[in-house]
Amino acid sequence: MKIYKTKNYEEMSKKAAQIMAAQVTLKPDCVLGLATGSTPVGAYGHLIQWCKDGLLDFSQVKTVNLDEYKGLTPDNDQSYRYFMNKNLFSGINISMENTHVPNGAETDSQKACSQYNAIIAGMGGIDLQLLGIGHDGHIGFNEPGDSFELETHCVDLTPLTIEANKRFFEKAEDVPRQAYTMGIRNIMLARKILFVISGEDKAEILKKSVEGPVTPQVPASVLQLHPDVMLVADEAALSLMKL
Ligand code: PGA
Repeated sequence: MKIYKTKNYEEMSKKAAQIMAAQVTLKPDCVLGLATGSTPVGAYGHLIQWCKDGLLDFSQVKTVNLDEYKGLTPDNDQSYRYFMNKNLFSGINISMENTHVPNGAETDSQKACSQYNAIIAGMGGIDLQLLGIGHDGHIGFNEPGDSFELETHCVDLTPLTIEANKRFFEKAEDVPRQAYTMGIRNIMLARKILFVISGEDKAEILKKSVEGPVTPQVPASVLQLHPDVMLVADEAALSLMKL
């Protein structure tokens, strides 16, 4: 794991965006694995700006997102499809048909998940997967459990995740209880992983994930086994690490 330490969130965002921009520049028809949450928003802002400035071209890029709430349609402003359109896709010159998010409107979980696995495989896998981390160590919506779920699957969100995500909804009861998420194998098969983390509140889970044992109880710990992970984190998030 290569660790890039930054001063703060702004610097973390710029470094992460630079790495993504390098990928797009080196392979203009690359497959980017994308993430939602508050952490990547700053990096997405840089990519939009650089695209507007003519420095980046997304016309051939394809994307697959990690996850989506089950039961939310793309026009729902809490859906991850809506988030991606608003925070990235609408600001760059990407073809919308090249962007993929699990189909939250599909009520048949098996169908939604197998369709998504087929989409990822059909693209020839992911060149660079962007990942954030939840306070319980989740990546995508792979929550702590007794085993690593390998492929795209439907998950019951943990109380901690519902609590963390309720800030985006009017009330906690509005947070969907289930989601579709890429599995650990989908993520681990990405050729490169860009892991972005900011803030003191993530310091403990980052330490556990990187310095603790590899266990499905801390899903992000599996990244220790990936050959090409770039961790871009700010000082606060890295504050408990030995380094
Ligand atoms: P956050 O979410 O970026 O909003 O902290 C990360 C996650 O839950 O994966």
